[in-house]
Amino acid sequence: MSEKIYDVPAEWASRAFVDDAKYRQMYERSVTDPTGFWAEHAKRVDWIKAPTKIDNWSFAPGNVSIKWFEDGVLNAAYNCIDRHLDKRGDQVAIIWEGDDPSQSRSITYRELHDEVCKFANILRNRNVGKGDRVTIYLPMIPEAAFAMLACARIGAIHSVVFAGFSPDSLAGRINDCNSKIVITADEGLRGGRKVPLKANVDAALKKCEGVDWVMVVKRTGAAVEMDDVRDFWYHEAAEVVTTECPVEHMHAEDPLFILYTSGSTGQPKGVLHTTGGYLVFASMTHQYVFDYHDGDIYWCTADVGWVTGHSYILYGPLANGATTLMFEGVPNYPTNSRFWEVIDKHKVNIFYTAPTAIRALMQAGDEPVKKTSRKSLRLLGSVGEPINPEAWEWYHRVVGEDRCPIVDTWWQTETGGILITPLPGATKLKPGSATRPFFGVVPEILDPEGNVLEGECTGNLCLARSWPGQMRTVYGDHARFEQTYFSAYKGKYFTGDGCRRDTDGFYWITGRVDDVINVSGHRMGTAEVESSLVAHPKVSEAAVVGYPHDIKGQGIYAYVTLMAGEEPTEELRKELVAWVRKDIGPIASPDLIQFAPGLPKTRSGKIMRRILRKIAEDEPSSLGDTSTLADPAVVDDLVEHRQNKH
Ligand code: PRX
Repeated sequence: MSEKIYDVPAEWASRAFVDDAKYRQMYERSVTDPTGFWAEHAKRVDWIKAPTKIDNWSFAPGNVSIKWFEDGVLNAAYNCIDRHLDKRGDQVAIIWEGDDPSQSRSITYRELHDEVCKFANILRNRNVGKGDRVTIYLPMIPEAAFAMLACARIGAIHSVVFAGFSPDSLAGRINDCNSKIVITADEGLRGGRKVPLKANVDAALKKCEGVDWVMVVKRTGAAVEMDDVRDFWYHEAAEVVTTECPVEHMHAEDPLFILYTSGSTGQPKGVLHTTGGYLVFASMTHQYVFDYHDGDIYWCTADVGWVTGHSYILYGPLANGATTLMFEGVPNYPTNSRFWEVIDKHKVNIFYTAPTAIRALMQAGDEPVKKTSRKSLRLLGSVGEPINPEAWEWYHRVVGEDRCPIVDTWWQTETGGILITPLPGATKLKPGSATRPFFGVVPEILDPEGNVLEGECTGNLCLARSWPGQMRTVYGDHARFEQTYFSAYKGKYFTGDGCRRDTDGFYWITGRVDDVINVSGHRMGTAEVESSLVAHPKVSEAAVVGYPHDIKGQGIYAYVTLMAGEEPTEELRKELVAWVRKDIGPIASPDLIQFAPGLPKTRSGKIMRRILRKIAEDEPSSLGDTSTLADPAVVDDLVEHRQNKH
């Protein structure tokens, strides 16, 4: 852990919305009078009918229910677009930067209004309305934003599926929420490489009965097959609709979107977010954490396929009338200077990215950074995984030239918005620490027996109270919601993360303590990779764990036992990697596969993952007690043939 402390720069303390004294005062109020606090801050969004009931939630076992602003009525798209038109109709809402550096586009709030209305009318013409589910499988193009906001406008529930997922993964997500329409593009374009999105949808839909429509956005112009009845082109449909579309009146607790995320067991679950609380929380955190002021140019490099893209490319910034940059490409294409060149090209002031990108760029050295100006930069952000102090220091010193604070923001798909973070005008920084809770957030650290630990301590991170951006349920499976998040520690939301609190009361997230791994900031359930591997005809058993990886944070380490008579060859190893890649998507490809004649099991047949993790981490000397294993000898073989030997 780094001992270094960076004080709040004087000009930040005076200019920011919140300095340290104000943080303490607002935080105090948010936890002593949450109803009053959130009643006041709910006013930041425009309500068709203002809420009078503010908070109504219970984490009680068997009775988990979360409602915020429940009698309020509003529309999220109205808040992100229409309410800005008078004052900032001509201001740029979205700057789109293409994969190819010669392509970019600026969309004003007025243009955004017209595009979203057209998109919404196309959907309405296909009988898509309030409560219907719409699956969006698009690259990072403006139409992804139009599609999401169009759904919000008409009260449809969007489910964005990251365009890197395989046809099978897409099919599972379409079926789970019964989408009747899928929105995609002919192809995606990332780092100069084409991704066959329409073909992937065609393959997925062989497994989906309920899809009536596929809307296709032309991105690359590639020839794609179009089904006469089911498929239609967006650009053709857009020619015959108007640029006016009245907004649907939504109750605060009406669903806004579903987003699938991996857990420690089974299939990905549909995290459900609702309208009022989510929007209040996303916009408020965006304003305070990034200290967003009118006129700032703000860039979050995430993909809209992840929650970061939902809350901090789209909903938070647009609800605040911000200018938000949407980037189609990757950090190292055409060169390792790309991020910094985009910052110079669009005069970006606030830049928010993931540690994995920082580590990868750090490896390319300082020169690709230093040859750019970055004078416009004022604030840097980090999200998605723990940031190691070396990467933090490099980001601060080389990218930010020692003048830009870094907000290391901890949160999850489930939390809807940032929960633990510095505020740039208020919080001193410690490299590697997400520092202090946001307003209304009450973190608790518990030991495995469920005792709440006080003062300096290490344990499992829970949240004692609800906050407006919290997920409301797992779509279609409330019992799973309760089981996953509220059963480990009764009456509390369990995050799945380990955490340390230091003597200053600062929080340090240590990573997942469950069977979820975080690969390049992407969440992956080890169980998902295992079930993919065992579906291969030559595999009899598989166990997957994470191991430390210099760039990705964690890599995927798979132990595979083959069917009797199968040979463990290099070729088979490659075949298995390709198999998982095709089955789930490239982000799930195992980095290392060890062929294991046997796995360490207890006498009752339970795999001892603790041992597998230690071997994968190349720490064979700290395996702990192996005497309870059914066959302790398997461990010797695993240690001898470990793949991560240094
Ligand atoms: O383990 C934590 C890690 O990412 C997990 C949530 O992943 P996901 O739902 O995909 O959302 C990612 C973007 C919000 C968390 O349980 N994580 C996220 N941010 C941080 C982090 N770990 C350490 N520091 C962070 N700033």
